[in-house]
Amino acid sequence: MDLEEKYIASKRKMDHLELTSKSQVLPSMTDSRFMYEPLLGNVESIDLKIQFLDTIFYNPIWVSSMTGGTESAKKINRNLAKACMQFGMGMGLGSCRQLLTDDSRLEDFTVRKDIGDRPLYTNIGIAQLEQLIENDSINKISELIKKLEADGIIIHINPLQEFAQIEGDLLKHNPIVTIKRLLDSLDNKIIIKEVGQGMGYESLKELLKLPLAAIEFAAFGGTNFAKLELLRNNNKIEKQFEPIVNLGHTASEMVDFTNKIVYDIGDRLKCKEIIISGGIKSFLDGYYYTEKIKLPSIYGMASEFLKYSMGDYGILEEFVSKHIEGLKMAKAFLRIKNHKSA
Ligand SMILES: Cc1cc2nc3c(=O)[nH]c(=O)nc-3n(C[C@H](O)[C@H](O)[C@H](O)COP(=O)(O)O)c2cc1C
Repeated sequence: MDLEEKYIASKRKMDHLELTSKSQVLPSMTDSRFMYEPLLGNVESIDLKIQFLDTIFYNPIWVSSMTGGTESAKKINRNLAKACMQFGMGMGLGSCRQLLTDDSRLEDFTVRKDIGDRPLYTNIGIAQLEQLIENDSINKISELIKKLEADGIIIHINPLQEFAQIEGDLLKHNPIVTIKRLLDSLDNKIIIKEVGQGMGYESLKELLKLPLAAIEFAAFGGTNFAKLELLRNNNKIEKQFEPIVNLGHTASEMVDFTNKIVYDIGDRLKCKEIIISGGIKSFLDGYYYTEKIKLPSIYGMASEFLKYSMGDYGILEEFVSKHIEGLKMAKAFLRIKNHKSA
């Protein structure tokens, strides 16, 4: 042991003595979702690859739709796209609504060069889709996909957000009817998501019966857009809408719904891939839900990625790299309780 090594070893021993009192936990703090099996795995042998959206994801992680249409969005989107390329992930763009009529902010969204051949999906809301259908201009969707060199489109279904939004649009038709019309007229891949409120058993069941490329949960438990819109809205009278903020379904609940639906509808299941998102705060959440669900799945995060994507790319790179190390550790040593094959 050279001098420096001796110094580090003695410093570590000192740290142990000093930090012991701060390192106390209680039995009630254990993460009871998992069985910890320290003897039955090793990180080196872990492979996180999964076939998803007709490609290989080298890590089962999705960058959930966020931003565009402002100057800072360009940098955020480029950083996120670069991370997808480097770590073999995929990405949904934030709403590209304005590109349907005006290309002045096109550059915020054009990340094909940064993301390489990784999955990239453009995004509009159900209200815009309804309007495009009404105006007989659904061809604008394939134009949008082409313009961004995207692999398909995400439609976000957000009636509560629109309701809480000052400039919000109210829908004229049931979203499921509008989605079926899109499926009839578009050859590209389609993903359907909420925006942070999730959806109940019946809505999820109807979606799983459609030939969608994937469903993204965007469940309740993380960013809440109904809340965000009410925060933007200073109108005292509209404050009475506040209780709608707490409506919705968590990722945990939606995983259970999905498993029940798979069982209930049997052969009528047409959409077979799920992006579990909404309130995913750590690799342990992602690992737990992707292990528990009975369909091929990856997990998505929005706000967690946002925290690290506004500055230098190196900050995001370090975050993603450590996140993946954690996920490998989880896969090596943790088994979920009530595993799907049990
Ligand atoms: C800043 C920001 C902007 C978002 N913009 C969109 C959007 O344009 N379209 C969309 O489908 N979802 C949008 N979302 C919702 C996310 O895709 C995601 O469903 C939601 O934030 C829940 O994930 P989280 O809990 O990991 O943040 C946005 C989220 C954030 C944080």
